[in-house]
Amino acid sequence: MGERTVRGFCGACERLVAIYTDHTITIRPTQLTDAPAFRELRLEALRAHPEAFLADYATNEAEPMTFWEGRIAATGSHSALYFVAHGDNLIGMCGIRRGMSPKIEHGALIWGVYVQPSWRGRHIAEEMLEACIGWARENNVRVVKLAIVSTNGGAIRCYLRCGFQVYGVEPQVLFHNGVMQDDLLMARIL
Ligand SMILES: CC(C)(COP(=O)(O)OP(=O)(O)OC[C@H]1O[C@@H](n2cnc3c(N)ncnc32)[C@H](O)[C@@H]1OP(=O)(O)O)[C@@H](O)C(=O)NCCC(=O)NCCS
Repeated sequence: MGERTVRGFCGACERLVAIYTDHTITIRPTQLTDAPAFRELRLEALRAHPEAFLADYATNEAEPMTFWEGRIAATGSHSALYFVAHGDNLIGMCGIRRGMSPKIEHGALIWGVYVQPSWRGRHIAEEMLEACIGWARENNVRVVKLAIVSTNGGAIRCYLRCGFQVYGVEPQVLFHNGVMQDDLLMARIL
């Protein structure tokens, strides 16, 4: 597996770039033409990891393309969606949305963190989370939160590395295949 050698913001392409010894990936905000690939990646995540996401595969699979276009079109000062691209392929995604009313808009929630299986273990999720944190800072967000099923050790370690701290446990959030799951609640103060 390639080691990461360089990461940083590329002024020319206006993207975060991470260069590994064996490949280069870019982390970029979504654009409307991503809708079909966004749908595919999100459905892949929901199908493969039903215990990791609150959203449900069947419900999302039934949504028309306008639903996916609408989610992309809704990004702006209240939400953002980042993809990791390797060439023309999207290999990872991560979203962030802030509170909608004046008293809660200083807080934002990370959602939908996913890296395709063959790309895991290279800390690519950290790059996506940093892109979200960068968006949060630019938009005067003061605290970023996320929730993660308490049994997902790999993801929890990733979030701890990214500066998130556990502030609580929400009991019995997710029920799948007869198993009830608690969520760990994590936050990073900016
Ligand atoms: C959680 C996830 C986004 C992490 O992405 P990543 O870019 O691989 O993150 P990292 O490289 O930091 O690895 C995180 C942990 O995954 C585990 N990991 C490493 N290589 C792996 C591989 N090839 N396959 C599966 N897990 C692997 C390791 O335990 C690692 O933690 P450690 O280095 O402290 O032991 C990714 O595993 C994923 O998409 N999982 C399925 C969906 C999910 O659980 N999303 C989180 C919802 S809140």
